[in-house]
Amino acid sequence: MNSVAGAGVVVTGAGSGIGAALARRFAAEGARVVVNDVNAAAAEQVAASCGAEAMPGDAASEDGVATLIGGAADLLDGIDLFCANAGIGPEGGPEAAEEIWDACWQINVMAHVRAARLLVPGWLAAGRGHLICTVSAAGLLTMLGSAPYSVTKHAALGFAEWLAASYAHRGITVQALCPMGVRTPLLAAAGPAGQALLAGSAVTPEAVADSVIEAIADRRFLILPHPEVAVMYAHRAGDPDRWLRGMGRLQQQVEKLS
Ligand SMILES: NC(=O)c1ccc[n+]([C@@H]2O[C@H](COP(=O)([O-])OP(=O)(O)OC[C@H]3O[C@@H](n4cnc5c(N)ncnc54)[C@H](O)[C@@H]3O)[C@@H](O)[C@H]2O)c1
Repeated sequence: MNSVAGAGVVVTGAGSGIGAALARRFAAEGARVVVNDVNAAAAEQVAASCGAEAMPGDAASEDGVATLIGGAADLLDGIDLFCANAGIGPEGGPEAAEEIWDACWQINVMAHVRAARLLVPGWLAAGRGHLICTVSAAGLLTMLGSAPYSVTKHAALGFAEWLAASYAHRGITVQALCPMGVRTPLLAAAGPAGQALLAGSAVTPEAVADSVIEAIADRRFLILPHPEVAVMYAHRAGDPDRWLRGMGRLQQQVEKLS
């Protein structure tokens, strides 16, 4: 799929931020869009704003994902593009509560696994299908101030990469959307480290949607609304110790601010 025109598309976590911008942009490009969010009122509002259908509900649990994918597949007569976008980014390190770590695993990782489990067999049979996982630059680098976010976003990237490596030759396209800061409620709640590190270079959700539309056309695996992330990723791989020393200096700057 090089364009979303006419496609049946599902976007999770589309009641706000990046997901809402994606849903609106896909609808404007002629897609038939299902707007999911656990916040039902937000999903209804975004759907009404762009002529899409709202399907509120939890996009993380096994039952929630099955209900969403079953309902959307019926409504759209098959799902051409699924955007596993919903995510959370709580602060904390190893001391963060078990419930916080678990919530991050469920929505930031297992939501993607559960969607792929249901979608991939039909896509393989059809010889086509398209999954976009909203990861984060934190999945390529790290996010100071949030270990649960950094760890689960690395896992989400690992899963997307595994899917792409395993199924590209059978017609399935998998892309990982990895922005740094995006001006959404999630960034606003990110705490001092998030604000200090991300706010200055943050882009709008609409700019992220532009990058996604371009990337759907050329099918590159990494969608990087901040192109400088590619350079940072290469530095991290090329000299991990130097990169970690730089991150350590940033951490110390953040500590001075708080
Ligand atoms: N904002 C940023 O700076 C930034 C940067 C990189 C990546 N991201 C990623 O982008 C994605 C979207 O984040 P955003 O910034 O638009 O945040 P946001 O908080 O504006 O929107 C996220 C939406 O997901 C919904 N949601 C949460 N859990 C859900 C669940 N279990 N089922 C269905 N919906 C659920 C929320 O209700 C919310 O409406 C996330 O995966 C996030 O990690 C954000």
